[in-house]
Amino acid sequence: MSSPSIVLSNGVNMPQVGIGMWQTPDGETATKAVQWAVDAGYRHIDTAMVYRNEEGVGAGVKACGVPREELFITTKLWNDDHGYETTLKAFEDSRKRLGVDYVDLYLIHWPGQQKTFIDTWRAFEKLYEEKKVRAIGVSNFEEEHLEELLAVCKVAPMVNQIEVHPDFQQSKLCDYCKKKNIAVTSWSPLGQGQLLSNPTLTKIAEKHKRTVAQVIIRWHVQLGLIVIPKSVNHERIKANFDVFSFELDESDLQTINAMEAGNRVGPDPKKFFHI
Ligand code: A2P
Repeated sequence: MSSPSIVLSNGVNMPQVGIGMWQTPDGETATKAVQWAVDAGYRHIDTAMVYRNEEGVGAGVKACGVPREELFITTKLWNDDHGYETTLKAFEDSRKRLGVDYVDLYLIHWPGQQKTFIDTWRAFEKLYEEKKVRAIGVSNFEEEHLEELLAVCKVAPMVNQIEVHPDFQQSKLCDYCKKKNIAVTSWSPLGQGQLLSNPTLTKIAEKHKRTVAQVIIRWHVQLGLIVIPKSVNHERIKANFDVFSFELDESDLQTINAMEAGNRVGPDPKKFFHI
């Protein structure tokens, strides 16, 4: 079974379910995770400079046996590298570590201060115009950051990658992104694993004879979100992709939607890192 794709605003297809690489150690662990994921059907791999595993990911991409152009690889610009020239250099360093000719999606990892991310974005637009990246976007941007960027950009961001899981749904920001034709990717989609013994989700999982992780991933898919669960375990990597042969019904969706509790597991973009 293959993952459906979300069509980005520039027409690029982005596979809806990818493997997240945050907290995956570099080297053999990252390489194996990528190989197992591709064997299981994943075609989308999400890493970042700051995850320090781009080399291991790149080795997995080379070894996986699927042509590069069939894979969708995302990486991100870290906070220290904001600015025009520094971004161009940071991109080149990431590209080389990954061992690829182009990156599918390059994201600004965190907004920091508005005036700095605008310079950074100019470099992103250059990379996009030069076809070194197939799509550009942001991560952890809130409405105010996006407004600021949309007011001055030549190329609008195609993706915003934000924290989303059943007890932190960010529905207002998701609706805003939808209105602006910006696809949303959910990071920490399983709440960093904290939701996996939740009784409400366990009940829904029992009803469908599925795991809680599969129910959560399926919820993201049915909301039209791109979703990147992280795992380094072969069986869990396989199971997390096996979400295309069952469907949550309206009452399941309503029950999960009612779980919103404002429970962030990661940093608040308004407070995290101001350069
Ligand atoms: P592991 O890598 O050992 O599988 P998130 O994607 O929300 O950040 O969650 C990632 C966390 O959830 C990791 O600790 C990961 O551990 C764990 N995890 C991922 N998939 C599953 C699963 N199917 N069952 C149990 N734990 C999982």
